[in-house]
Amino acid sequence: MKLSSNQHPQRIAFLGLFAILLPIFVPNLFAPLGRASPSLFSEWNAPRPRHLPLLEGAINRKTPIKQQSELWSPLPNQGWKPCIESKNIPSLPEKFQGFIQVFLDGGLNQQRFGICDAVAVAKILNATLVIPHLEVNPVWQDSSSFGDIFDVDHFISVLSNDISIVKEMPREYSWSTREYYATGIRATRVKSAPVHASANWYLENVLPVLQSYGIAAISPFSHRLAFENLPANIQRLRCKVNFQALVFVSHIKMLGETLIHRLRYLPSKYQASQAEFLQEKVDDAAEGAGKFVVLHLRFDKDMAAHSACNFGGGKAERLALAKYRQVLWQGRVLNSQYTDEELRGQGRCPLTPEEIGLLLAALGFDNNTRLYLASHKVYGGEARISFLQKLFPLMEDKKSLASAEELAEVEGKASLLAAVDYYVSVQSDIFVSASPGNMHNALLGHRAYLNLKTIRPNMLLLGPLFLNGSIGWSEFQQKVIDGHKNRQGQTRLRKQKQSIYTYPAPDCMCQA
Ligand SMILES: *[C@@H]1O[C@H](CO)[C@@H](O)[C@H](O)[C@H]1NC(C)=O
Ligand SMILES: *[C@@H]1O[C@H](CO)[C@@H](O)[C@H](O)[C@H]1NC(C)=O
Ligand SMILES: *[C@@H]1O[C@H](CO)[C@@H](O)[C@H](O)[C@H]1NC(C)=O
Repeated sequence: MKLSSNQHPQRIAFLGLFAILLPIFVPNLFAPLGRASPSLFSEWNAPRPRHLPLLEGAINRKTPIKQQSELWSPLPNQGWKPCIESKNIPSLPEKFQGFIQVFLDGGLNQQRFGICDAVAVAKILNATLVIPHLEVNPVWQDSSSFGDIFDVDHFISVLSNDISIVKEMPREYSWSTREYYATGIRATRVKSAPVHASANWYLENVLPVLQSYGIAAISPFSHRLAFENLPANIQRLRCKVNFQALVFVSHIKMLGETLIHRLRYLPSKYQASQAEFLQEKVDDAAEGAGKFVVLHLRFDKDMAAHSACNFGGGKAERLALAKYRQVLWQGRVLNSQYTDEELRGQGRCPLTPEEIGLLLAALGFDNNTRLYLASHKVYGGEARISFLQKLFPLMEDKKSLASAEELAEVEGKASLLAAVDYYVSVQSDIFVSASPGNMHNALLGHRAYLNLKTIRPNMLLLGPLFLNGSIGWSEFQQKVIDGHKNRQGQTRLRKQKQSIYTYPAPDCMCQA
């Protein structure tokens, strides 16, 4: 920072103090938003590549045409097709039991699953669902409502034969608000729903509340409905909500479409400056639409710290992560009892952008690949991202593809930004999820439902491979290819307790 003579010393001192206090007052500064804003503090020595020989091999890679065409070819038919209409004639119950209200916490995708479960619970109880209330998440700090994210009218109309939904609580129950429940013990609040509660639990515990008061407010509600032992029509209804009733509001869809269009029609020589590129009108008919891959990359400080792995940022980084771990989880991170090498050997360390780049290069993505980064903040900023970018110069994200004006409506709103990434991710030719979590689960399921290619990194293979300092590029490449043959989106049937939103077959799909 240059100091000009007209800046008052007090002001400078104040700014300094502000910089020190900022992370305390604004904790979310460390979490979402902006793919690579450098941290305020240099707590890591600019990270260096950890796998230099492999990186060199990857930069000079030549990918045979055959491997590339296999990679980009769509997933073959798996013998399953979407199947969500109930076999019974859809019918609304004769007698309504009352109103169900839910308050949903978590990020966008956790809330998404909560909405699906809320519809299912309303159906089980023959109740009318009030459009769910989305809580403001302390980390993501986005106060967007259901209607700011999802198309409410579409939601209600798609489900109109299945359950009854109202946008707002009727006037006689208008006292039933979040504030009302926050300020005392209330008879209409159901607080005790166990995780993965059964249908019977709701019939035994919530139905009486509905019958006495005409309303039941369930909170907390995340993950409060089991995945096993539910009637088939309820399972299908959950999928119908997830895959059909929940669509984003039009401005998110439009922004998503814009990004997808720009990805498909990226100028092949990406030399134009940002401004020229944005103004350029690409004629749809002029050139064939290109394919693109979405990489979901979550490598934020939470995740890095929680893993207790070493990411090569030296002692400063190790100390910073250990401190962060201590503050957030008070030493309750199991991983910290293992050495870095043990964790890596077991595939328990999140892949760094460099490692993901090596993985993608080995799989056969060449340096003309249009790669869209669906990601929030990356711990380590530009320096870490740069290794990935070196291998994939045509790497884009929301910020690089759209202008500030185009992003104005979603800027700073974590849920809306996540919605845009979700939209682009569902439509990509290939989706690679490098990080576990709700977004990963949601997209795995949605793409399985649509039979789209999804590559899941084989952590147990990659951990030991990256530990081995003497492995050469071609051997690495071969091992990676062999280890990912069956991890490209082939149908996996849901097991007993697994989520129907991650594994929609067989409950929500029929054999084709
Ligand atoms: C819901 O409605 C259906 C059909 O009218 C009925 O068979 C079922 O017993 C009702 N269940 C409850 C909990 O009211
Ligand atoms: C891609 O790789 C080829 C050959 O390895 C090289 O000639 C070319 O310059 C690279 N393109 C970019 C954009 O880096
Ligand atoms: C590392 O890779 C080399 C070359 O494939 C192999 O010979 C060696 O056994 C590997 N080392 C370990 C510890 O796996």
